[in-house]
Amino acid sequence: MAQKWWQFAVVYQIYPRSFADTDGDGVGDLGGVLEHLDHLEKLGVDVVWLSPVYPSPMDDNGYDITDYHDVDPVFGSLADLDTLVKQLHARGIKVVMDLVVNHTSDEHPWFIESRSGPESANRDWYWWRPARDGTVPGEPGAEPNNWGSFFSGPAWEYDEESGDYYLHLFSKKQPDLNWENPEVRRAVYDMMRWWVDRDIDGFRMDVINLISKDPALPDGKVRLGERFATLGRQVVDGPRVHEYLTEMHREVFAGVERPLLLVGETLDVSIDEARKYTDQERQELDMVFQLEHLKIDRGASKWDILPFDMRLLRGSLAAWQEGLADVGWNSLYWDNHDRPRVVSRFGDDGELRERSAKLLATVLHMQRGTPYIYQGQELGMTNFPFTSIEQFADIESINYYEESVAMGEDPEAVLASLRARSRDNGRTPMQWDDSPHAGFTTGRPWLPVNPNHQQVNAARQVDDPASVFSYHRDLIRLRHEEPVVALGDFTLDEPDHPQLFAFTRRHDGAELRVVANFSGDIAEVPPRLQRATADSPIVLANVDGPHDSTVLEPWETRIHLRPSEAAAAR
Ligand code: NOJ
Repeated sequence: MAQKWWQFAVVYQIYPRSFADTDGDGVGDLGGVLEHLDHLEKLGVDVVWLSPVYPSPMDDNGYDITDYHDVDPVFGSLADLDTLVKQLHARGIKVVMDLVVNHTSDEHPWFIESRSGPESANRDWYWWRPARDGTVPGEPGAEPNNWGSFFSGPAWEYDEESGDYYLHLFSKKQPDLNWENPEVRRAVYDMMRWWVDRDIDGFRMDVINLISKDPALPDGKVRLGERFATLGRQVVDGPRVHEYLTEMHREVFAGVERPLLLVGETLDVSIDEARKYTDQERQELDMVFQLEHLKIDRGASKWDILPFDMRLLRGSLAAWQEGLADVGWNSLYWDNHDRPRVVSRFGDDGELRERSAKLLATVLHMQRGTPYIYQGQELGMTNFPFTSIEQFADIESINYYEESVAMGEDPEAVLASLRARSRDNGRTPMQWDDSPHAGFTTGRPWLPVNPNHQQVNAARQVDDPASVFSYHRDLIRLRHEEPVVALGDFTLDEPDHPQLFAFTRRHDGAELRVVANFSGDIAEVPPRLQRATADSPIVLANVDGPHDSTVLEPWETRIHLRPSEAAAAR
């Protein structure tokens, strides 16, 4: 594949609500992002992805949009956003906006008009359907099909006025747009062009593989003991999704000379489909977020927790490396605003927090793909010690709690799942310093600040060369400076080892080897690997030398780099 700028880039995700608050209302804002540009520059990231800042009733923290062309006052103004884009550009950092077009808010003028009645010119912009034959509209079981929403309960909301239902795969305040209607697509593309003309550098496309639905909306399979069909493969990668994305590319991006980044969030996507989305020849997307590696420790649902097995994680990530080796490209990520913190999930958030955070970063950044850092990950931020349902704000978590407890589940057990898996773990305020609200706000933070901010905070780390922050900076620098990191192929080493996650990247005569002890116990390095790394200098490690080539300490990782002969001669 032809070289692309984003192969050498690292993206930093900002969830503005939790980043930094400048007006004391307890909610982060664009002014807060502006105040921390030095942090981003020191880290060395190339792109900022901004989670939604559009006007919204905030049922789902801004993933429910009422106006695609403005900024919600809680975050600031459009002028603030323009300033932010300019200032980031001045520092050589690009800006990617979140694009949420599978659904709008139910308070978006498009939906208000659509809801005004069956005769509305916009009726067909959303998925309106009558009650199931032979049922009484509005009664349980009368929904047009049996789909359950991703946020619990049915995926349909009854509209008494017209006697019809509308589809919402997420909350009932997030009605799904009907992409079958060409007017919807035209309106979305117009809006996207408006943003491109405003100088933004790309889009992170929310649940983009849900936009095409089989218009028959067939029933799904309902699991034993459940009321609704769990959505998954049945609703993703629908019949026209590739057609829509090709059309979008043609209508919005063709002819744009500036380098852009187009990344799609693709639920339950298979490797085959991901290859299609990201094949440069097809002109759809540059890369996708797949979720398979974050499902390896769950059972029937995300709330059903299985013991973590590193081998499954390694196998999944390696399969994606191999699957997208010749065509397409991977997004590499652990954390985002929908995930618990990775150091609590796959690492050690106790005594070896820093070391394991560095190992997790190494294993991620050194793979083939574009790494994403979610705010706070560069500090090794951890999950929050939630003790009561009152501490949560996330609609998905609260709905799940209420539904499960209503169905007779033990509240303490439900709380235990939330503590491990709730999205609020990733949304607690950014930890800037050790002051009472971690320097996030002077007011009352909208979500509690993690009590460990006294130890885990940016002020302590930014100028400390041994910190998790500095380690991330070094990894980013390595990608910028060593073509093998961006361009090298990938081979998994020691695929059956119970503790090691080891791999080799090769490019143009250079060889980079990662050896990581993904466990809390000492690991022996197999002789074959010892020999392979013997004459290869260590360029980065999370434990100070001298290094014993035969064993690794708990959570120890090393990066060996043997430069190409040409580079060595220079
Ligand atoms: C994925 C987003 O990342 C998540 O936060 C949101 O709730 C859903 N899509 C719905 O927009």
